[in-house]
Amino acid sequence: MKKYLFILGRNPLLSRAELRNFCDEILFAEDKSLLIGENLKFQNPRNLPKTPEQLFLDRLGGTIRFGEILGELFNEKELQNEILKQIQSQKPEGKIHLGVSGWDCGKTFLRHFLPELKNAFRTKHDRNCRIVNSPGQNLDSGQIFGGKLLQKGFEFLVWKNKNSWLLAQTVANQNLRNYTLRDREKDFRDPHMGMLPPKLAQILINLANPEANEVVIDPFCGSGTINIEAAICGYQTIGSDLDPKRADLAQKNFSQLAEKFRYEVGSGEFFTSDAAKLPLEKMKGIIATEGFLGANFGRKLNKEEVRKNSLDIMKLWEKTLSHLEDSNIRVISFCLPVWKIGREEISLAKNLFAKLDKTSYTPRVLFSQRKTFLYSRPEAFVSREICVLERKNDNPG
Ligand SMILES: C[S@@+](CC[C@H](N)C(=O)[O-])C[C@H]1O[C@@H](n2cnc3c(N)ncnc32)[C@H](O)[C@@H]1O
Repeated sequence: MKKYLFILGRNPLLSRAELRNFCDEILFAEDKSLLIGENLKFQNPRNLPKTPEQLFLDRLGGTIRFGEILGELFNEKELQNEILKQIQSQKPEGKIHLGVSGWDCGKTFLRHFLPELKNAFRTKHDRNCRIVNSPGQNLDSGQIFGGKLLQKGFEFLVWKNKNSWLLAQTVANQNLRNYTLRDREKDFRDPHMGMLPPKLAQILINLANPEANEVVIDPFCGSGTINIEAAICGYQTIGSDLDPKRADLAQKNFSQLAEKFRYEVGSGEFFTSDAAKLPLEKMKGIIATEGFLGANFGRKLNKEEVRKNSLDIMKLWEKTLSHLEDSNIRVISFCLPVWKIGREEISLAKNLFAKLDKTSYTPRVLFSQRKTFLYSRPEAFVSREICVLERKNDNPG
């Protein structure tokens, strides 16, 4: 069975939790943001003309790129020979564009290995190749994407472990241009609301892991980020918001991006509703939502403001969950705010989980006993704590 090396994003634990629903993990190295996995669950619900690997990556928010593992080599010469062999076997045309990224290989590895590889290529195969790495540095996704390295070149990933080298060839890389289109270039954005990054929207959907025929619902849809990501993954989706203007803007954003991302405008339905009074006849499927993170003052909140926000948000979730008791919502993945006051971090998850006894929902253990993950950005006043609730009788074990 093929094995793959994943390069994870800047929150490797969350990336790992997301990947867990899509492949079997063999090894995880948190400090390096690397994961080895196998048995990838490829999906192509909308029959898009892309490689299965690229489609697999396109729906993941927490993985930057990944490579197919080609083998384990035991010295640099063997590594060089294997890379040359792989390139030749793939019969590239024209000048060859080539990059190598390394982990645990030592500071000077790329500085000597790359020129040697280039020379060996010329000597053995009488062909020129262009090395695309900046001197001594790993490639980043932007360079691979901008240089079309997966279409007309090669990137090899090398991870040294004591006496051996694991070699992989990159097969999929995140599409940065598409993320920008779905983020900063959406027609309607509201900076006062805080913008949910599309990658986090993907992670929230993937943590809920909807079946192909399930509807993805965001009852706090704001500008519609989660609905757009759900439609791109091939799901039917519902977005609602207490604010009629936002429900309307979400619909407009959704329609604006439909053609570019080749989903049906009709796959999304939008309306105004309080999350605690959602129309139960439509509540069939999973909820993936950023939720309400409290009043946004565009600055750090003081203790009193945090206390007031906490009470409001707790009340809102208690009412919403109690209302959903009679619905067919199987899983709810959502964010709760975490505020920092001095050295203290104020989180609501524990309090909310304690109130779940009265409901049929229970927090899902994402892995290693962890029920929540923090997603924070250095410049943000509020961090997001990600949680997943499931029906008590719906635990996949
Ligand atoms: C953090 S924003 C969500 C932003 C959204 N994820 C996006 O991508 O644009 C929270 C949203 O919750 C909505 N909201 C607040 N209270 C609500 C309630 N009781 N029911 C439904 N929506 C509510 C707000 O109008 C706001 O649009």
